[in-house]
Amino acid sequence: MPSGWTGPSHLLITSPPYWQPALAGGAAAVVNVDLSPRALAWAKENAALNGVLTEDKKGDVFHWLRRFRRLRRSFSLVVLDPPAFARGPSGPFSIAKETPGLVAEAAAVVEEGGLLIACCNQQSLPRQRFLALVQKGLRRAGRSGHSVAHLGASPVDFPPAEGQAEGLKVEVLRLEGSRLASVQ
Ligand SMILES: C[S@@+](CC[C@H](N)C(=O)[O-])C[C@H]1O[C@@H](n2cnc3c(N)ncnc32)[C@H](O)[C@@H]1O
Repeated sequence: MPSGWTGPSHLLITSPPYWQPALAGGAAAVVNVDLSPRALAWAKENAALNGVLTEDKKGDVFHWLRRFRRLRRSFSLVVLDPPAFARGPSGPFSIAKETPGLVAEAAAVVEEGGLLIACCNQQSLPRQRFLALVQKGLRRAGRSGHSVAHLGASPVDFPPAEGQAEGLKVEVLRLEGSRLASVQ
């Protein structure tokens, strides 16, 4: 965290609601970024119920990540949970195409030794391919990261169907290298 900064140290991007309970134990506050005011409002309510303060940023994730980098804000944890496909202010978004760019911008605001959680809910994108896209993004930001956990959908809510590829992939990486590196 840059000295003098006393605000939130966790950044949740396009992923407000369901991360709040998980963070309640360790995070005093989080920054939520989403295009949708409804998603932000839902997240705020959920966070309050879990004793977590939120700083809400409505708008495009790429815009906000670049802005945080310019302001030299960094975070101990960044969660990326984008849709598989979307149309946003930066143009059409496809997780298969945009993951390296999104990860590069996000990695630039993760503190040294901080965590990046990258989610992918596209069944046709296999885990190893997704991880390769994440690693490509880290290289663009001049960072390296190693996997510390691989999570997925709850087997209770979504029992795995035999022979079917994993749907939700949640990759937890610890990043080395200095934060706020330039993005290629
Ligand atoms: C997969 S959903 C995340 C859902 C959330 N984790 C939940 O449990 O309800 C993706 C979110 O990304 C937001 N989104 C899509 N494109 C975006 C963009 N370019 N910038 C910021 N948010 C975006 C959508 O509004 C949506 O809330």
